[in-house]
Formats: sequence, C-alpha cells, structure tokens
Amino acid sequence: KMARVFLFLGLLLGLTHQISGQSLELPALPYDYSALEPSIDETTMMLHHMGHHKAYLATLNQALAALRAESKTKHLAKMGIDTLLQHLDEVPEALRTAVRNGGGGFVNHDLFWKSLAPEGSPQNAEPRGNSPLGKAIARDFGSLLELQNAFNTAAAKVFGSGWAWVVVDNASGKLSVMSTPNQDTPGSTRGVSVLFGLDVWEH
Ligand SMILES: [Fe+2]
Repeated sequence: KMARVFLFLGLLLGLTHQISGQSLELPALPYDYSALEPSIDETTMMLHHMGHHKAYLATLNQALAALRAESKTKHLAKMGIDTLLQHLDEVPEALRTAVRNGGGGFVNHDLFWKSLAPEGSPQNAEPRGNSPLGKAIARDFGSLLELQNAFNTAAAKVFGSGWAWVVVDNASGKLSVMSTPNQDTPGSTRGVSVLFGLDVWEH
C-alpha cells in the first residue's frame, strides 16, 4: 500500500515537471497495468511505467532542453531520439551520459511495453512456421525453442543492469540474440533493429 502512495506522489510530481510542448511525453501502455498478471503484477507494471520509464524520460527531456538552449547543439535536439542515440559522440560530454541513459531507458522501455501482450490476446501467439518471422527463426536458430534457450542464456549472463535482445541485422535480415549493459540500446551503434528485449535488472 505504501508503494502505491509513493507512486501516486511520484505521478503528481512528474506532472508538475512537464516542461513545455516541446518535451517528449510518456506514452500510455497499450493495455491495463494488471493485464500481464500473473506474469508481471500490477504494482510492478505501475512502478516501471510511472516510476522508471517516467524518470528516464525526465532525464532525457532535461538533456534535450539543454541541447536546445545552445545554438551549437540545437540541431541535435531536433533529430528525434532514435537518431540522436546514433550520434552520441556529437553530444557534449556534460550531457552525453544523460542522453545515453535517459534516452536509452526511454526508447528501451517503449519497445518493451509494445512487445508484450496479455495472455489470450491475438498478439500473444507463436509465429506461424510459414510466416516471414517463423521462417527466419527456423533458418537462424533451428526452432523457436532454440531461440528461447539462446535468449534465456544471454539474459542470465547480463551482469548487473542490462538488457537481452532479439535483433535483426538491417543489411542481411539475419536474426540474432545479444545483450547490452545498462540502458544501452542495440540500434544506436550496431546496424540492427530490435524485435524483442527484456530489461533484466528491473523486471
Ligand atoms: Fe524497466
């Protein structure tokens, strides 16, 4: 019960911190907070959406406001967060960690919520063997079970905070499993797009 009171206070504080129309906003979950029970309970979902995801966003918005305030870095604030994460080396050192962790945490969680679906919903189904995804899984892993095993192994090896991922190579279309430390996001440097991710530390 106490946790919920803190969550509510956090939400109120978060609302008062909305800076301007230029700030990014926290996207709503595509389902209810309790929709993933019993796999992820309602309190955990509320904590990670209204707590962690919102905090990453606040860090990112603060960094974006600082970039916007300087003529030399204004263009960086306009690129969109996915592109900005691919240009971290151009971000002034004083703001780089905030963009990397706040921006990474923001986009990673956005991907995470969108890649989960309640049990029994049409989105929660194994890919058909004859679908493009089903064929790619068979080609690159042998079977869905082997993909799950490789994914679980990658997740178990994450030391401290980090993510396990199923990614697709942008050039070849090949699927693979990988992990990143902290809130680093694979799309930022590695020429891949994310299909699925798991926040190992927080969930
Ligand atoms: Fe999380």
